[in-house]
Amino acid sequence: MDAALSQFFAQVDKDQNIYVDRLREVVAIPSVSSDVSHRPDVFTMGAWIQKELTRLGVDFEIRDPGTHEMDGHTLQLPPIVLGAYGRDPAKKTVLVYGHYDVQPALKEDGWATEPFELVENEKGELVGRGSTDDKGPILGWLNAIEAHQKLGLELPVNLRMCFEGMEENGSEGLDDVIVAEAKGWFKDVDAVCISDNYWLGDSKPCITYGLRGISYYKLAIKGPGRDLHSGVFGGTVHEPMTDLAYIFSKLVTPQGEILIPGIMDDVAPLTAAEEASYPPLDFNLSTLHNAIDAKNTIHDNHIDALKGRWRYPSLSLHGIEGAFSAAGAKTVIPAKVIGKFSIRSVPNMVPEKIDACVVKYINDEFAKLGSKNTVEVECLHAGKPWVASFEHPNYVAAAAAVERVFKVKPDLTREGGSIPVTLTFQDALNKNVLLLPMGRSSDGAHSINEKLDRSNYIEGTKLLGAYLWELSTKNF
Ligand code: BES
Ligand code: MN
Ligand code: MN
Repeated sequence: MDAALSQFFAQVDKDQNIYVDRLREVVAIPSVSSDVSHRPDVFTMGAWIQKELTRLGVDFEIRDPGTHEMDGHTLQLPPIVLGAYGRDPAKKTVLVYGHYDVQPALKEDGWATEPFELVENEKGELVGRGSTDDKGPILGWLNAIEAHQKLGLELPVNLRMCFEGMEENGSEGLDDVIVAEAKGWFKDVDAVCISDNYWLGDSKPCITYGLRGISYYKLAIKGPGRDLHSGVFGGTVHEPMTDLAYIFSKLVTPQGEILIPGIMDDVAPLTAAEEASYPPLDFNLSTLHNAIDAKNTIHDNHIDALKGRWRYPSLSLHGIEGAFSAAGAKTVIPAKVIGKFSIRSVPNMVPEKIDACVVKYINDEFAKLGSKNTVEVECLHAGKPWVASFEHPNYVAAAAAVERVFKVKPDLTREGGSIPVTLTFQDALNKNVLLLPMGRSSDGAHSINEKLDRSNYIEGTKLLGAYLWELSTKNF
């Protein structure tokens, strides 16, 4: 393995500009899953993956999840691409997952460069939407296969792949495919690896064994039959925005405390072992300040900040559809507004119970307003929290791979974000699932100027390959 790996590492170094060009090619495809007008681009990106798999000699099949309703349109869901590379019964089989869709991005949001044109800046950052979330990591797997092929080296494991194009929009249709393929496409899988998260800080790699769940809500308040002039009707009608602002203010305090009764009831108590796991982590307040480009953190110690990020639930207010949001001073009373908020959940919270608490509370609070407007709360999508057992050989292999590439022992972390499918893989396949990140804390996934450092991309490609080699030596 040592000889193979050093050859592989050298090949990755040698081909790094090819990999960067490849990333440039995919960043240029604006595969924004949550935007009706970009849906064709998501399909283009799905086709790009299929073309690459063909080029690399990976067997693949498409699963078509059908259609869904979005913003008043019936839309075709992008293909779920299932890959298979190697079918040697003597080898372990590893399933890798990634998503080829991205978050929306507009230059006007404040990007320094065009979001869908990859730019390498003087710091060696590859800036562009999807660079770190999650196109870079997907390419990492494909680059690793290509490097092995160039060297005439066989991969030490069989690979199965699952690439989807709807992750940023609730992974519609994917759970059913995974359950249906548990005894089909995925039947030989021994372990699962997902590269779709980030280092805790900016210098030390980590491996991740937990994610929060998410329950995402839309809260519609309707009043007048049409938008109104606030001079003519202000003071005469119940205004939907006023009601919404009031309800919003009842959900969470500025200190982040969730005000919905019952929400905290099922939060698992913190154990002594967990408490002890925080201090050694490569994290401090300046790491956090650096990642947010500000110092407005709720907690003044980094351990509470980490607990707030991944150990406890949080509630965020995201936006208001229908509200006046342009520049200028339009004197409108919006007739209908839809507030969007979500709750990040942790073990042992369950989506059904979260829903029940949210719906009851909002209806109760709304009733207190004495407003003649109507309110409607709906959960748009829900995913459960996930925690895996990090003693598993899958984690031992990943840690060994980190040591090979980065010469340090990785931090063992949880994360505050959500990849609902993680738990589906764990439950449906009954196999250990590992999160092995490529990017860093400061990459700015979902934000403006999203980037992946060239070094993270290249060393990350080595890491994914090294993990496959380390895993091949494990007995489980
Ligand atoms: N890559 C993220 C998940 C993530 C975020 C992992 C932060 C670790 C840290 C993923 O692409 C994502 O954005 N997920 C969504 C899921 C949601 C739309 C169901 C999220 O967390 O908001
Ligand atoms: Mn992602
Ligand atoms: Mn994301």
